Amino acid sequence: MPDTSPFSTHPLVPRPAAAATGGTGGLTLTASTRVSADPDARGTLTWLQRELGAATGLPLSTGDEASAQVRLSVDSEAGLGREGYRLIVDGEGAIIVGNDPAGVFYGAQTLRQLLPADVYRDAPVGGAEWTLPAVSVTDAPRFRWRGVMLDVARHFVPKREVLRFIDLLAMHKLNVLHLHLTDDQGWRVEIRRYPKLTRDGSWRTRSQVGASKPPVFDDRPHGGFYTQDDIREIVAYADARHVAVVPEIDVPGHSQAAIHAYPELGESGLIPVGTQWGVSEEVLAVTDEVLEFYRNVFDELMELFPSTYVHVGGDECPKTQWKASESAQRRIKEEGLADEDALQSWFIRQLDAHLTSRGRRLVGWDEILEGGLADGATVMSWRGEEGGVAAARAGHDVVMSPTHTSYLDYRQSEADDEPVKVGTLLRVEDVYLAEPVPSGLTEEEAGHVLGAQVNVWSEHLDTPRRLDYMVFPRLSAFAEQVWSSGERDYAEFEPRLRRHLERLDAAGVEYRPLEGPRPWHTRPGVVGWG
Ligand code: ACM
Repeated sequence: MPDTSPFSTHPLVPRPAAAATGGTGGLTLTASTRVSADPDARGTLTWLQRELGAATGLPLSTGDEASAQVRLSVDSEAGLGREGYRLIVDGEGAIIVGNDPAGVFYGAQTLRQLLPADVYRDAPVGGAEWTLPAVSVTDAPRFRWRGVMLDVARHFVPKREVLRFIDLLAMHKLNVLHLHLTDDQGWRVEIRRYPKLTRDGSWRTRSQVGASKPPVFDDRPHGGFYTQDDIREIVAYADARHVAVVPEIDVPGHSQAAIHAYPELGESGLIPVGTQWGVSEEVLAVTDEVLEFYRNVFDELMELFPSTYVHVGGDECPKTQWKASESAQRRIKEEGLADEDALQSWFIRQLDAHLTSRGRRLVGWDEILEGGLADGATVMSWRGEEGGVAAARAGHDVVMSPTHTSYLDYRQSEADDEPVKVGTLLRVEDVYLAEPVPSGLTEEEAGHVLGAQVNVWSEHLDTPRRLDYMVFPRLSAFAEQVWSSGERDYAEFEPRLRRHLERLDAAGVEYRPLEGPRPWHTRPGVVGWG
């Protein structure tokens, strides 16, 4: 059993595997405090100096190992486990040993949480004493995929907000940022070879507001995109915080913005960038030219994103147009395919072969199971757990993100003043208590569950302020779901979470208060669904 008592005074989130307090001493950071790192830990040293330096105003200069009071090192032989670390603070100082550079980083994140919440500010507020208590923490994550999907297509999220979001992921020891870069309503990444994707596809004339029927629209253009330099900056910033950025280009459905820019990609000529939410009938044509186009797009994407995993979407592709399409029907006949589901599967397999030939791995939403799964594919299970179970049983890796536990656009309460209520009820305690591994899997099958992910769809999140409201503090609960091992008891977590909110306050996060929305969080008159 983990010793939970230290957490009442030092409310760490996510909860570490083991922690003990009560030794003698502790360490007060002062102007003369020196920090050292061995070569593999230098990235974290730089991060620590930057972050603690900003809040404390202390130089935390680099010293040699003998004179430093805070010492960082990597020891892959220490038996700490993948991404694991040990943090000891005693009368001698603070020592972080990581199994790997990521482990050192997570140890440093824990060290930061041991300081007063004002350590999450960007400038010293004065009067604080920066004392680390005597503590011994041994910790490692339960899952290797601790992810968040950000839908930057429905509403663009400016680069500066993505960087801030990465910091908040890293604070919670999450390590995958999945960027949903394209959809019917916008294309958000510069592709040099096809400039019209962003010139014409990155904005729409207006947006649906809420989900009322008939639809209501604002009359404002909405748009934005990341240049390739922006993407390189995002990826490097994330890498320095041990967050892998997984790009998604959603095909063959959800492609209306691309079809607007290059009508030859679609089945019906020139169409507008989508302005309404939901599933569009407009899909890609399955021609050689379209495949070539997307191989080229993915090639540029792979230059920008070093991530092993590349997401091809694959969700919600209506087959109506293919049933009536001469080229789709010809392809079905030529390839000896059973039907339109098999055609989608064939299309995804072409991309799988392409990504695999470049040493990457394809990941897609669970619809990629329909009509047969590509050999190397990893499945992201969103329509419940069934897709994940089927894929794991077939020996494929899976990431669990079922709607009922993972969709952070879904309503946080049933109260009338909850803004734009969509989907099913997903309270912070529901996220906290969700179990990523579906029951009924054998141990071997469960080994294919890489981890879990929450998804932040942004149809109704038109500003970063709305994003904060929907994401926090449910993301803090999710962090514990994927990082921490052992029993989870919401009654034990909630007091810790309340203290953790002080950190989010200091960081300027506009989370949803546990008691419910503030007046300016509400959206009177905007209708949701579900
Ligand atoms: C999805 O929610 N369409 C993956």
